[in-house]
Amino acid sequence: MTGAVLQIEDLRVRIPVPGGRWVGAVDGVTLAVGSGEIVGLVGESGCGKSTLGGAVMGLLPGGSEVSGRVLLDEEDLRGLTDEQYRRIRGDDIALVSQDPASSLDPTFSVGAQVAEAIRNHRDVSRRAARERAVELLGIVGIPDPRARYADPPHRFSGGMKQRVVIAAALANDPAVLIADEPTTALDVTIQAQILHLLRDLTVRSGTGVLLITHDLGVVAQVCDRVAVMYAGQVVEQGTVRDLFARPLHPYTRALLDSQPAAHHRSGDLPVIPGRVPDLTEPPAGCRFASRCAHVHDRCATAPPVIGMPNGGQVACWLHQAVTEEVR
Ligand SMILES: Nc1ncnc2c1ncn2[C@@H]1O[C@H](COP(=O)(O)OP(=O)(O)OP(=O)(O)O)[C@@H](O)[C@H]1O
Ligand SMILES: [Mg+2]
Repeated sequence: MTGAVLQIEDLRVRIPVPGGRWVGAVDGVTLAVGSGEIVGLVGESGCGKSTLGGAVMGLLPGGSEVSGRVLLDEEDLRGLTDEQYRRIRGDDIALVSQDPASSLDPTFSVGAQVAEAIRNHRDVSRRAARERAVELLGIVGIPDPRARYADPPHRFSGGMKQRVVIAAALANDPAVLIADEPTTALDVTIQAQILHLLRDLTVRSGTGVLLITHDLGVVAQVCDRVAVMYAGQVVEQGTVRDLFARPLHPYTRALLDSQPAAHHRSGDLPVIPGRVPDLTEPPAGCRFASRCAHVHDRCATAPPVIGMPNGGQVACWLHQAVTEEVR
C-alpha cells in the first residue's frame, strides 16, 4: 500500500523461553496501516497480537529475535537504538493498553501526566504544556478539564482514566497509535464512546490506528480494515465490509460464528473447538488444519497467501482456484 504510515513486512518475532526453546509468536506478518485509517487486528488469545504491537513499539521481552521490516513513514524502525526508540515512542508512535490504571501514576495528577507526556518530547514551557494538556483532556471528553487537571487518577472512573491515557497517547499527534484492547475493561456504553473518540481523532489528526481486540463487534463498529491473526500469522485481511459479508478463511468464519452479538459484554474468548497450537513447535503446513472442517491432504503444506479481486488476502488452499481464475 502506498501512503501507509505503518508498513510491516514479513515480520517474525521469536521469544526465548526456558529450556533453550523459542516461541515463534509472530511468523511472517505483512500488514499496512494508512493515514487516518483504523485497522483491526483480531484473533484468539495467544495468537501473537500483542507481540506484533510490542514489535512496532520496540517493547518486546528481553532476548527476543526480530526479523523483517517495520516502516514508520518509510523509515525502518528495526535499525533504531534503544535511545532512538525512546525518542519516537510517545511521539511518532504511541500505545494505549487494556489497563488504564497501570499506565497512570497514582501519585501525580492526571493533568500533570498528560503535560509530562508533552514535555518529554517537546521543548515547551510548563505553562504551554499545561494549557495543551487541558485542551487534550477536553478533546477526549473530560468534563471541566481545567478543574479536573489537578485530580489524581483515583478520582476518575475506569472510562475517564482510559480517556486520560488516550489524551497522553495523543499528546504529540503520533503518526501511529497501537491500541491493545483499549476498551476491554470498560462497560459497553463507555466502550462505544471511546471507540467514537478514536474514530474522531483519526479523522482530525490523520493518525493511523492498529486496534487489537478479540471482539469482532468492536471491529465492526469502528475499523476500516481488519486482519485476522491465527497462531502468529495473518490468515486473512480485507475491508471490514468485505470480510464480514464474505469471510473466506475457515478460521475467520469460525470466529464470526462464535462471537457474541456486538452489543453483549465482550472479552470472553470465542469458543471454537480445539486450541491454538503451541508456538514453540507449530505444526507444519496450515496451522489451523487440526481445527478446520475443510481440512484436506494439501493442508499439510503451508497455504499460499492469495490476493482476491476485491483487494483482500487469504492464506488458505480453498481459495486457490479463485486466484487462478483471476490471473
Ligand atoms: N514474555 C513472554 N515470554 C514467553 N512467551 C510469551 C511472552 N509474551 C508472549 N508470549 C507467547 O507468545 C505467543 C503470543 O502471545 P501474545 O501475548 O502476543 O498473544 P495475544 O494474541 O496478544 O493474546 P491475548 O489475546 O491473550 O492478549 C503466546 O504463545 C504467548 O505465550
Ligand atoms: Mg494480547
